[in-house]
Amino acid sequence: MIKTDVDGARQFIDDEEYTKTYEMAENAFRQVEQASGPGNNWLGWRRILKEPNDAELERIERHAAEIRKNADIFIICGIGGSYTGAKAIIESLTSGFEGSGLEILYAGHHMGGRYLHDLMEYLKSPREDGEPKRVYLNVISKSGSTLETALAFRTIRAWMHEEYGDEAKNRIVATTGESGGVLNNIIEEEGYAKYVIPGDIGGRFSVLTPVGLLPVAVAGIDIQTLYYGAVAEYELTESDPGKILEYATIRYILHKNGYALDVIGSFEPEMMGFAAWTQQLLGESEGKEGKGLFPATASYSTDLHSIGQMIQQGQRNMLETLFVIEKPISDLKITSMSDNTDELGYLEGKTFHEINHSAQEGTVQAHLEGGVPVIRVILEKLNAQQIGRFIYFYELMTAVYVYMLDVNPFNQPGVENYKQAMYRLLGKKD
Ligand code: PA5
Repeated sequence: MIKTDVDGARQFIDDEEYTKTYEMAENAFRQVEQASGPGNNWLGWRRILKEPNDAELERIERHAAEIRKNADIFIICGIGGSYTGAKAIIESLTSGFEGSGLEILYAGHHMGGRYLHDLMEYLKSPREDGEPKRVYLNVISKSGSTLETALAFRTIRAWMHEEYGDEAKNRIVATTGESGGVLNNIIEEEGYAKYVIPGDIGGRFSVLTPVGLLPVAVAGIDIQTLYYGAVAEYELTESDPGKILEYATIRYILHKNGYALDVIGSFEPEMMGFAAWTQQLLGESEGKEGKGLFPATASYSTDLHSIGQMIQQGQRNMLETLFVIEKPISDLKITSMSDNTDELGYLEGKTFHEINHSAQEGTVQAHLEGGVPVIRVILEKLNAQQIGRFIYFYELMTAVYVYMLDVNPFNQPGVENYKQAMYRLLGKKD
């Protein structure tokens, strides 16, 4: 179960207003449950947990094991909902110091020429033993036409075909919509392995489809446990959505009362990928029709030495969301020393987790005193099961809360505006 601590936000909210608004949250939850709200043909992120597709999970696991056995580098090529979730899971559940031999890299998530140039140089350079690097590529794009992803894919796959010849076909995997789109034409022509993103699931709700599951499995994470963690949270919240409704109610009231920003962060660096995932999930879902809380992110305690000043004493228009891990996976005791020249002797015997926890408690106290409502979302432990639960918890909370704003959570019409202007400047023909 995902736990929350909302005491630090409730103190900013009047009881009568809370009770009245909670009814709105119940109605919004019913809209999700009965598929009666706007965008109700985009609720597949619930369907896949109600009816898990074990055959697909197994196919992904088998394929991932084969890639892990043969690859030096696995490139995730996608943007927005097509990569943020996988990146968040991988960063939360792997330390980066495993030295497993398989390197996960990203492409197609921006149009920086220098980055892609340097990435290509790196791919072309030999391994330490002088052998060429064995590169695998997963292009992920539901529409199959997103420019950032398409350009990186063109660059990398052209090189892979040149480098590996026919073998390139076995090293390129495409994850896209069932049919239509340029990417489907390429898949058909080249014969790349394909995974389908269901038509009723939008990008930012797609992490528990092959969009996220294949890269995560390639990273060595147990996707069965992750997936069934989400299923467990789905089942729990169907019968007892109380925590979700409470959270959505508080967020809605703060928004209505003029709050403009939600600073989403954690004292656990491993959770910062999820701060970015939540930023996208909430931001693209609620930021419409002149509404929405701007989701900013902050990594603590690092950012207490920068925007912490603003959170404490800047404009009083922000709330704060903290992702908390109760029990650390691993920890470190403060080193004992015979002398106390660094004056840190008073911390001997404590662990970093304990000190970090005190930093968190102190920060919450200070921010509450500074007039910032604080919501804590708590995972018992950082493991695949809890992360699966966390993902569904936020997907459902987002849908309920955005329905309360009377907004369709599942579209992103504003994203088209920059694309049209960019394509005009680039001279794209319709
Ligand atoms: O949530 C969304 O729908 C978006 O963020 C998309 O995931 C993003 O724009 C990438 O789109 P596509 O997968 O079609 O390349």
